[in-house]
Amino acid sequence: MNNVKLHNKYFEMFISENEINAIIHTMAKNINELRISDPLFIAVLNGSFLFAADVMRKINIPNAEISFIKLTSYSGTKSTGDVNKLIGINGDISGRNIIILEDIIDTGITLEKIMSLLKKENVAEIKVATLLFKPKAYKKDITINFIGKSIPNDFVVGYGLDYDEIGRNLPHIYKLKH
Ligand code: IMP
Ligand code: MG
Repeated sequence: MNNVKLHNKYFEMFISENEINAIIHTMAKNINELRISDPLFIAVLNGSFLFAADVMRKINIPNAEISFIKLTSYSGTKSTGDVNKLIGINGDISGRNIIILEDIIDTGITLEKIMSLLKKENVAEIKVATLLFKPKAYKKDITINFIGKSIPNDFVVGYGLDYDEIGRNLPHIYKLKH
């Protein structure tokens, strides 16, 4: 499918399933090479569910764990900027080496919020991995350690990313048509 319609908008193919697989292969290799000890991957739901699943099955670091957290910051195709609290961290994560798995980093507001909430838990180290990054929209100076692909300021859907909750199941990533 080269074009899809979601709600009232039209999207065109942007990053194929094959390209996504190649991006994930490279990212997992780079993460593995760091040999972070007993890493705790923290995937940010809902958007990163497929990305996290695909990266994790390629991670070969001993004692790797994964947890899922959830925040809400987006409605429609524009970031609303308001982020709620972090849910999904139950046990003690103090002293852990964290790798955040994000589907996309846009303004960085969500990432900053997650970082500050995790720091309150006294974790040891936090690294950030994101499938997609919008450098022109990014307003923060938090280092992003692993970037799958940098993209223009287009709104994208598919492979976990949604437009008002639909489109997450698409195997390719699509961008909004102008
Ligand atoms: P930020 O807080 O502006 O960096 O936005 C981060 C969150 O907004 C991501 O985790 C996504 O859930 C959502 N988001 C940002 N850009 C897009 C997009 O192009 N498509 C779908 N969701 C997006
Ligand atoms: Mg998200």
